[in-house]
This record gives sequence, structure tokens and C-alpha cells, in this order.
Amino acid sequence: MKYHIETWGCQMNDHDGEKLSGLLSAEGYELAASSAEADLVLLNTCSIREKAVHKVYSELGRLRQEKLRRPLLVGVTGCLAQQEQAALFKRAPHIDFVLGTMALQQLPRLVAEARAGKARVMDTGEYPDNHLFPPAVTRRRELAKALVTITEGCDHACTYCIVPTTRGPERHRPFADVLAEVRGLAAAGTREVELLGQNVNSYAGGCSFAELLERVSEIEGIEWIRFTTSHPMNFNRELAQVLVTNPKVAPFLHLPLQSGSDRVLRLMRREYTVAEYLERLGYLGAGRGRIALSTDFIVGFPGETDADFEATLRVLDEVAFDGSFSFIYSPRPGTPALRLRDDLPMTVKAERLAALQQRQTALTRASNERFLGREIPVRVEMREPTEHGWWLAHSGEWKTIHLAVGPGRQLPFGELVQARITLASPHFLGAELV
Ligand code: SAH
Ligand code: SF4
Ligand code: F3S
Repeated sequence: MKYHIETWGCQMNDHDGEKLSGLLSAEGYELAASSAEADLVLLNTCSIREKAVHKVYSELGRLRQEKLRRPLLVGVTGCLAQQEQAALFKRAPHIDFVLGTMALQQLPRLVAEARAGKARVMDTGEYPDNHLFPPAVTRRRELAKALVTITEGCDHACTYCIVPTTRGPERHRPFADVLAEVRGLAAAGTREVELLGQNVNSYAGGCSFAELLERVSEIEGIEWIRFTTSHPMNFNRELAQVLVTNPKVAPFLHLPLQSGSDRVLRLMRREYTVAEYLERLGYLGAGRGRIALSTDFIVGFPGETDADFEATLRVLDEVAFDGSFSFIYSPRPGTPALRLRDDLPMTVKAERLAALQQRQTALTRASNERFLGREIPVRVEMREPTEHGWWLAHSGEWKTIHLAVGPGRQLPFGELVQARITLASPHFLGAELV
């Protein structure tokens, strides 16, 4: 029996894919090179925006055709599975099983039942030990950089967001478990860890998130620690202090702002005003210049006026984010924002998105140009150079680096090397080995 997992969505989902892969491998199933060679295809889905859902249904349509031609088991997991549950079988009757996001360890049972011929097998229960998934089972794609769960779920209630529905309430992994996993990874060669949660900085697994970062940084072999994602209201002075002083914590902060208008932030129920967000960035103090800042924006939120959008552009310029991700508001089933009047034409929303992204490109270019001539550590992410002769790496600030080293020279995969930045474009930095 060969399996293939297709994953959409965020790092949490990506890491769930590694956990599910481990469960199937433990059952003796083999990883197939593609879905065409698999007897079991598992769609690990995302439902953050309608577009993500479309991709899943289009892949399900393709698999329906494939199932007409050969024996094939199709399972659906991830956020769309948790959101739609049994309704998925109605929409796509060729699905064999549905596995919720809080029931990962039930996968082998579901597969066994589906293989035995049982129809419409489903488990979307909330298992209290889901966030305690045994690390020894996880099958990682890559060891040099490893994803590590610290919390699952979200206790915030942003009015546009499906995540509290699909991932449930917050559950925190005890810090001793987290440290034990990272120690094991470091011993196996991991140099960089990314601590994961819908809201990592609300961490409450026996110590604060800032303390957890300090403890992880003491583990020998770990060179960089990243974390995804933080909520501004849980970003405190203690965390800012660790971020600016601990050399093992990568100098990068992703802190989603969503809008520069207090009125819209209130409608989104983000729990902060623009002034409060800026005050929290101020916690970084003089260290702020060293930290690359990134954020998320939603444009075209119901009722967003020209003035609201102008306010967003003003904050964008004022903070001069090094990078940002921006999206057009997408109505999600069962969310409170559905009740808000949304009469803004899609063309206006699209224009706003384009305007915001154009401004960001200019800011990112300026941010990248500040690196010209600097010598910085970067982590090598390839085992051999691209056909164009350069190697892909990332800096601590999460800048994409194209590293030229000259023909015949081998770089140490997964390790930090010192690079001099020689070229800045909006999308990457060109560099040479020091
Ligand atoms: N937990 C993270 C966000 C996860 S979703 C946090 O709170 O920061 C990632 C991003 O997707 C969000 O920051 C938001 O900008 C965007 N997003 C979430 N729901 C959305 C929706 N309904 N429509 C458009 N964008 C959305
Ligand atoms: Fe969604 Fe808000 Fe929770 Fe982030 S903090 S996952 S945007 S509800
Ligand atoms: Fe998508 Fe679920 Fe992540 S909705 S962004 S996969 S938490």
C-alpha cells in the first residue's frame, strides 16, 4: 500500500502532514512519489479563504475521475474536513474517509475501516491528546529545519476567521515535552526550529512563551529559532526583550495588523487599536532596527471605506514593514462577519489590494537595499546548486538569498555560512560567500 499526502495552507497544516505521514509509515505503508502512484491519497486541506477551498474541490474532481480507472482510497483531513465534516460526503460521494484536525491519531483506524469496505468513515472528534502527538512517530521531510508544535487552536475570535472553528480552543504542550523534542532534533542534526501555533505568544505550557524561547535557545546545536504566528495582544515586553537580546532567536517578527483603521479593527474584533499595535512594536526599543517586521492585511473588509483603506496605507508607510501578505476579505461559513453588510464591488477591492501590494513592493525593495554590502549569516537550504549556479539560503531576517560560490564548490547543507550581499531586488538578495 502506497500513500501520498497533498497539503495546502499554513505551517501548522504542513506539520500535521508530517505527523500523518509518520502514522502511515508506522503502519508499513510506503510513501509514493506522486498521487498517480498511490493507493491512498490524503488531501490535507485549508479553508482560510474561498480560493483555498476551490483548490481542494478541483483536486477532488480530478481524483473522482482517477477512481473510475483504478482502485484508490481518498481521504480528506485538515481545516475543510473539520469545517464540513459529513457534508463533504454529500458534495463528493467518492470520499472514503474524513479525518478532523483534532483527531490525527485516529488515521490508521479510519484507513483500516475504509480498506475493509466500510463507507463514509469519519472522525472529527476533539481528542484531548491531539497536541501531545508523539514526536518519534512524525516523519519529517527535512531535518535541518524542523517544525515543532507548541500550541494548537485559537482563543481569539476575529469575526472573519474560520480557524477557531477548524482548530478548536487553545491547548498547550508542556514545555518539558517541547524541549525534549527539540533536544532530540538537535542531536539528529537540526539547526533551525520553527515553533508553531495559531497563536504562539499566548503559550501557557508551564512557562511563558518568552521563557520557552530562552530554554530552547540553550539547547546545543540549535542556531536559529523562529515562531509562527503571534497575536499583537499577546506580544509583551518580556517577549520583545528576548527577541532583541537572544542571538539564537532569528531577528524576524511577523505580527499581523490586518487593517490601519480602528473602526475596521473593531468590526474585525482584533482587540487592539492602531495606536496599541504601534505601542507594542515600540517594546522592541532600540533593537527594532535589527528586527525584520512582517504583517498580514485584509482589504475590502465589509464596510471598509476609502478613508479606512487610506489609513491602512498610512500605517504601512509609517511602520515601513519589511514584508507583508495581503488578501481580499473572503466570507467564511458561520463567521460573525457574514452578518455585516458587504456592498463594496469586487473591482474596488481588487484595486485596493493592488495598490497596497505595490506600496509594499517599494518598501520591500528599500528594506532589501539596506542589506547591500553587509556580511550576514545565512542558512544553506540546498544540497546542490540550481541550474543557474546559485544556492538558495535564508537569512535570519527571512530574506531569500541567492548565493553564488563559483563552480565546483560544495556548501554545507542546513548549516550557517557567512555571506556578503551584492545585489538587492524586491524578491531576493544576491550574495557571495565571504
Ligand atoms: N493566527 C494567525 C492568522 C492565521 S490566518 C493570526 O491571528 O495572526 C493568516 C492570515 O489570513 C490572517 O492574518 C489574515 O490576514 C488572513 N485571513 C484570515 N481569514 C481571512 C478571511 N476570511 N479572508 C481573507 N483573509 C483572511
Ligand atoms: Fe484567526 Fe484571529 Fe485566531 Fe488569528 S487570532 S487564528 S486571525 S481568530
Ligand atoms: Fe488554512 Fe487551517 Fe492553516 S484554515 S491557514 S490550514 S489553520
